[in-house]
Amino acid sequence: MKRMPLPDKVDLREVGLRDGLQMVGQILPTQTKLDWCRDQVACGFSEIEVTSFVPPSSIPQFADAAEVLKGAKAIGGFTAAVLVPNLKGGIRALERGADKITFVLSASEAHNMSNVRRPTDASATEFEDLVTERDARGLKGKVALSAVIATAFGCSIQGEVPEDRVLDLSERLAAAGADELSIADTVGYGNPLQVRRLFAAISTVVGPLPLAAHFHDTRGMGLANVIAAAEVGVRRFDAALGGLGGCPFAPGATGNIATEDCAYLLESIGLSTGIDFERLLQLRVRLEEWLPGERIEGRLKQAGLAKTFLSAA
Ligand code: COA
Ligand code: ZN
Repeated sequence: MKRMPLPDKVDLREVGLRDGLQMVGQILPTQTKLDWCRDQVACGFSEIEVTSFVPPSSIPQFADAAEVLKGAKAIGGFTAAVLVPNLKGGIRALERGADKITFVLSASEAHNMSNVRRPTDASATEFEDLVTERDARGLKGKVALSAVIATAFGCSIQGEVPEDRVLDLSERLAAAGADELSIADTVGYGNPLQVRRLFAAISTVVGPLPLAAHFHDTRGMGLANVIAAAEVGVRRFDAALGGLGGCPFAPGATGNIATEDCAYLLESIGLSTGIDFERLLQLRVRLEEWLPGERIEGRLKQAGLAKTFLSAA
């Protein structure tokens, strides 16, 4: 059988302003968040997860969520996405004009209980209700709904997460009308063989529905997992500037793959990101100024671009 050539363009989504800031204790001022967002757009990012619609009592960093979304929409020129943990957050995001909503639930029952305080099936029902709400408001085709399956590769509370559970959820969320399915390794348990196997299996279950990959680099597997997912056709990746990030409701969670390193990897293997590296590295310097004392990762910032970068692809 002849294989279809895979597209050589990728969407790299910045999640630093959401996932990245979840574990950061110091509250970044709203204006600084918007400066970050503006710079990120100027670097060429076409989608940014700008905030999270959660109660401030859960994550105080996002008490300014509505203001950040409003400011992000005023910047314009990109898809402003927000994360929501439940239907209530989803409705707020619809009302406040988010371009895209990422609704998170966990394949691990134990993590779902810890993260959003309800069984996974109840969260899936809320996602179905959110699709109904969006469509009833005439927003189908205008506001994209992405279903995020967290802890898809294992869980630091319950351990093993059966692949069949991930496949069943994928099928259900696709049937509900998700515009995208994002598969997340919340606690960095995945390895490249698992990533290849699971994404390939999900593709057979959900057909042409776009899949996104969300990796944390907790055990140094993050970029290897990006290659594994890219090999089986994934063209949407999440990453956080400076490798910030982690779920406060999952023990042992640490940062996402670093945006700058991930972009470098993707470009190096011939997958075009459309990102201006010089600007991105300047933004990376500003991030350190904005978050003094915070542990910020990322190898490219330390080493700089190779002289052979892009000539060897
Ligand atoms: N945004 C703002 N307020 C919300 C909300 C949301 N998404 N969801 C619920 N609330 C409010 C309710 O209105 C209620 O307020 P009140 O006490 O003034 O009436 C209060 O929060 C409790 O609501 P309830 O529905 O009982 O929530 P809960 O206590 O069962 O908690 C979550 C459920 C999802 C809100 C909570 O577990 C949570 O915030 N989780 C965050 C998960 C997360 O962000 N993880 C990291 C990303 S993966
Ligand atoms: Zn994450």
